[in-house]
Amino acid sequence: MTSLLILNGPNLNLLGTRQPEVYGKTTLNDIEAMCAAHAQRLNIRVSCLQSNHEGALIDAIHAAKGTHDGIVLNAGAFTHTSIALMDAIASVELPVIELHLSNIHAREAFRHKSYIAPVALGQICGFGAAGYGLAIDALMAHLS
Ligand code: DQA
Repeated sequence: MTSLLILNGPNLNLLGTRQPEVYGKTTLNDIEAMCAAHAQRLNIRVSCLQSNHEGALIDAIHAAKGTHDGIVLNAGAFTHTSIALMDAIASVELPVIELHLSNIHAREAFRHKSYIAPVALGQICGFGAAGYGLAIDALMAHLS
């Protein structure tokens, strides 16, 4: 059975109360439940993980090799800073969809730079919580 990892980075545990005007009112629990329901419809497995720590995210990416068929990654602010996350993605050679709730290209200039984008299959941003379902669909289209 196809298995996907839904990996969320720093501060995304605060979704629902964190700047709702930017990120919406949907909580991370809601998003993970939506992903699980979507997976059930598609007859695939999803595992969800969130960490505020760069090293834990890197460990999760390493552990995904041989366990999962692809990753949906919202790396939060590490997107704009982390060469280590970029290297981890390049090392495992798994398809990764870069995801952001907000449209990072319509925000501050420092959010326009993504270290994830060059090693990602593609990027989905600006669609809020619905982006996670879109990312799962995009990964499945790629894998089929
Ligand atoms: C984010 C966008 C990032 O710039 C920001 O640092 C986040 C969330 C998003 O989902 O829109 O933490 O990844």
